[in-house]
Amino acid sequence: MTKGKVLVLVGHPREEKSVLNAEMARRWAAHPHAEVRWIGAGMLDVAAEQAAVESAEHIVFQFPLYWYGPPACLKSWMDEVLTWGWAFGPNGGLLQGRTLQCAITVGGKLSDYTLEGKHRTSLGSLMEPLERMAAYVGLQWLGVEGLDRHRMEESDAVKLLTRITSIH
Ligand SMILES: Cc1cc2nc3c(=O)[nH]c(=O)nc-3n(C[C@H](O)[C@H](O)[C@H](O)COP(=O)(O)O)c2cc1C
Repeated sequence: MTKGKVLVLVGHPREEKSVLNAEMARRWAAHPHAEVRWIGAGMLDVAAEQAAVESAEHIVFQFPLYWYGPPACLKSWMDEVLTWGWAFGPNGGLLQGRTLQCAITVGGKLSDYTLEGKHRTSLGSLMEPLERMAAYVGLQWLGVEGLDRHRMEESDAVKLLTRITSIH
């Protein structure tokens, strides 16, 4: 593990059509401690994905919200990469000592994601399965950062990254 290294997994089925996540990926890529990997709809090289995770101290799931959850490609990444004997089980636990942060772009307004708002729930509540997964495999959960078209400047990757890398 390289101390301070941030692995940004951008889960998006259509990289070429992405606006918000592509912009975030550009900002992450400008940081010397960040490695950006796009997780698309194609086949995964599980060993390469696991090696990338093992090299990093901080993991960021960057993705667009699709039907109130992560896109299927990121769910597939979890299903295929977080294996028994590596992420958990005998000789597992290889994710322990790392952190996980979600950075989620939404199509509408971020302010609609509250108990009283249009969607009647928060992004944090929607991501509870990811929080449970993090606890199960020993990742420290850093929570969810929401991004919309209006919040891209205010809450940009550099601030997020500074916050993530200052946690030990
Ligand atoms: C299949 C699908 C489902 C979506 N579901 C949601 C949703 O539940 N909530 C939401 O705010 N936006 C939803 N959107 C909008 C995307 O989140 C939005 O277009 C994306 O965050 C923009 O990022 P991008 O430019 O990187 O694609 C959905 C879009 C698609 C294609």
